[in-house]
Amino acid sequence: MSNNGNGKKNLLADLKEHPVKILALIYPYILIIGTGIGIFYLNNLNNIGNNIINPTIVDSSTIVPDIPLIKPSTAPAVSVFTLSQPSVAMVEKGKSLFITNCVACHGADGKGDGVAAAALTPKPRNFTSMQGWINGPKISGIYKTLSEGIKGSAMVAFSTFTPEEKFALAQYIRKTFVPNPPQDSKDDLTDLAKTFKLSLGGQSTSDTTAGQANPGQIPIKDAMVLVEQDGQARYQKVMEVMRQIAGDPGSGAGIFNRVVDNKVRALTMLSSTDEWHNNEKVFIDLIVDELGQDGFNYKVHWLSSSDWDTFYNYMNSLF
Ligand code: HEC
Repeated sequence: MSNNGNGKKNLLADLKEHPVKILALIYPYILIIGTGIGIFYLNNLNNIGNNIINPTIVDSSTIVPDIPLIKPSTAPAVSVFTLSQPSVAMVEKGKSLFITNCVACHGADGKGDGVAAAALTPKPRNFTSMQGWINGPKISGIYKTLSEGIKGSAMVAFSTFTPEEKFALAQYIRKTFVPNPPQDSKDDLTDLAKTFKLSLGGQSTSDTTAGQANPGQIPIKDAMVLVEQDGQARYQKVMEVMRQIAGDPGSGAGIFNRVVDNKVRALTMLSSTDEWHNNEKVFIDLIVDELGQDGFNYKVHWLSSSDWDTFYNYMNSLF
């Protein structure tokens, strides 16, 4: 074997003698191909991962907006005789209610020519004319219209308005649009008070109530929990306890707020039995057993035994 021959020949001869050396020759190519596959894999890691785990898509049709919580209250009793007397403040209040709720149909001038009127049959009432009124433009007539609506027309009942708001609208409409509005007689107002359970002031009858009770409102999903159980009394109790907790800066209330996600549900659960009233262990079991379902959250697991004592004593004092 000569050293000055051509390199290829030497190499071939060399390989024939030591076949293992072929590995050294192809090694760089294996390395390059291997690295290439590796880079490709890394670049596509996201796709590969996504294909294995199906993404969960939230079905937006299952997200139901719920009504907000409104606490119960009682509106003060004001007599129909007082409310039927025109006052500047009431007329002003009526005006702003009218602009927000009525102008679209009745028009800013009360002529029944609002933007929505064209499409309606029958047409919205023209307040500036005495023609065609059904309940009439007396205070009692307008109050009835707002409370009951007019059947077979676009005039619906505005049942969320308070009595004061209905009187305010009646006063505004009469003062601003109706020419020589007819006055309500004492009988008209007495009948109105009886029909809609309003106060007659000093002359109240057995049919009338002292004030307008506003029962409050709770989200539908929570109401369903209450309805299944014994309704009104429990509901009142839960609302009362909720109010007490809301106004309490103490540590018991602090713990409650921390470990409760759904207050109505949690309090409804606690009000469902008095077994826990004299037994802290029952109290703890009751809460922990149905965690999540019962309005409480996982943070109850972080409560120390002295936290539990505080919390237990506090809830005992409320129920
Ligand atoms: C969607 C349209 C619409 C809205 C909004 C509306 N109304 Fe009416 N309203 C009507 C129509 C239509 C009539 C006529 C009904 C009929 O003739 O049967 C009417 C009639 C009336 C009457 C006359 C009742 C009678 O005795 O004949 C009064 C008073 C009245 N509306 C007050 C109001 C007030 C106050 C508001 C706002 C709080 C309001 N309306 C909002 C459509 C509307």
